[in-house]
Order: sequence, then structure tokens, then C-alpha cells
Amino acid sequence: TLPDDFKPPPDHYYKGIRMLAITPAPTFDAILEMEVREDDIWVVTYPKAGTTWGQEVTSVIVEGADLEKVKSKPLLQRVPYLELGPLGPQPASYKMVEELPSPRLIRTHLPYHLMPKQWFEKKPKTLYVARNPKDTAVSGWHFTKINHFFVTYETFSDFFPKFVEGDVIYGSWFDHNKKWWEHRHDPNIMFVKFEDMKKDLRGEMIRMADFYGYPLPVDKIDAAVEHCTFDKMKKNPMANYSGAHFINHKKGQFHRKGEVGDWKNHFSVAQNELFDELYQEKMRGTGLTFDWEL
Ligand code: A3P
Repeated sequence: TLPDDFKPPPDHYYKGIRMLAITPAPTFDAILEMEVREDDIWVVTYPKAGTTWGQEVTSVIVEGADLEKVKSKPLLQRVPYLELGPLGPQPASYKMVEELPSPRLIRTHLPYHLMPKQWFEKKPKTLYVARNPKDTAVSGWHFTKINHFFVTYETFSDFFPKFVEGDVIYGSWFDHNKKWWEHRHDPNIMFVKFEDMKKDLRGEMIRMADFYGYPLPVDKIDAAVEHCTFDKMKKNPMANYSGAHFINHKKGQFHRKGEVGDWKNHFSVAQNELFDELYQEKMRGTGLTFDWEL
């Protein structure tokens, strides 16, 4: 655990996109050239869209819903975060990923155009989890307050303009989502919405399992779905980052609310109107829509 007064090293811009210092430019450069395998499974998200949820679901599916096995290792060992490090003596995560036996499960926040060159050739199965941007923004703001590596924004009003401009880690929500959405029909890509997982986790997990080619054993589906609910994941030390050094545990927990529509508790009327207009302008013609509440 890092000291409470730990100051993160300054963010930087990689090809115009704001990034954390813990992912330096040479790491992004090296990832472009890394080895990708056909039987990899990639979990891609814009930050705070349900990455951890997508990772846990994927891990459960690929392990055939063997929950004892799933609970025997922390999530980041089962589904490593690709673009992390090097951190002190710890090598960059992509180097560790290169050593893993197949089938590898890999989690990334990379925008489409920064995916490794071989990913476009080998076309491994890739899940993209998207979440309505208002809830994503609120979740992202809270995260800046508990994550040691992020610049902290004290109030949501401080964070909101940065999110709107796309001057946040991994850049614009609009650019990221639009590009992955354009590729939603590619045979190796499955585009899933956080809100649909909230509405019907069981149905979405069955769909994902079939897409991955690891269909869930019928007698284990109920337990597998239960294992991936918010309440269960929040309590599961192998999925809740309870021991993670990047979180200031005095300030909050990784699993915060896990709801659809919490933005209503944070957006002012003016912010909401501005955001609705922006969404119309940026996403016009894409056909990408979200549930803003359930
Ligand atoms: P909130 O901050 O709105 O609670 P990421 O993993 O991309 O960082 O996303 C984190 C968000 O996903 C957090 O949202 C977290 O609570 C939520 N989340 C994680 N696991 C979840 C689950 N099983 N069900 C619903 N939401 C979940």
C-alpha cells in the first residue's frame, strides 16, 4: 500500500491521448509490436465502463464455471492489465503476458487504433464492454479520488469539463466507443453494454460464453451468474481489489455502487443539458444508444 499522501507522477500524452505515468510511451510502442495469439481472449473497455466485471465474467466462462479455481487467484493474475508498467522492479505487464500459456485472457483500455498490429491479423475473440457515458463519468470521477495514480478532482464539477473535452485518461469516451462500435459486427468482436448486463446478466453471460466458444455447463450456470453479481464481487477478495496498492482504501472501495443512473445524483440540470447536446452531436448517425436509467 502506498502512503496516503503519495503524489502521482504527472500524466503524459501518447499520440495526443492523456495517459497515466504508469503507462509510459515505450510501453505503448512495444504493445503495438507484441505477439498476439488466435486463441487469446481480449477484454477491452473505456475506463470505468465495467472492465472488472467483464474480466470476472470472462474468467468464470473460460474456467468452465469452476468457481473454486476462479477464487484461487486474484483477478489481475487471471486477466492481466496489459498496458501497466514497468513499475519499479516489476517488468511491464505486456512482457509477463508474452510468457503466459494459452489461452491467455488479456484486459486493456486501448483505443481501437492503438491495438497491437498482430491483433488485426490474428483476430482473437474480443469483448468490448460499453457503459452510458454519464455513469462512466461519475464512476471515473469517484475513481480519481481513491486511485493513488490519478490526479484527484475534488468535486464532480471539476472533473466534468475534463471528461467532456476528452482530457482524461484514455482520452475521449466518444472517440473510444465510436470506433469500437463501428467494428461491432466483426466476427471476432462482441459489443456488450453494462446496462444489458445489469438487466440480464444470465442472458449476457450465456451469449458471451457462446461467442468465446466456451459454452457454460448448464448445471453450473446459476452459480456462475451469482458469482458475478455486484454484491458477490464486492465481497470477493479475488475480484474486489481489496489488497491492491493502487487504491487508497481509507477513501473508498473499488466496488462503489454498480448501478445504472447514479449520474442523476451528480449531474446538474445544466451539465445534463450540455451533455445531451454533445451526445447528439458526437454520436449522430452511429445508432449507439444506452439506457440512462433502469
Ligand atoms: P460505480 O463506480 O458506478 O460503482 P471498471 O471495472 O471499468 O473500473 O468499472 C468500475 C465500475 O463497475 C464501478 O462502477 C463498479 O462498481 C462497477 N462494477 C464492478 N463490478 C460490478 C458488478 N458485478 N455489477 C455491477 N457493477 C459492477
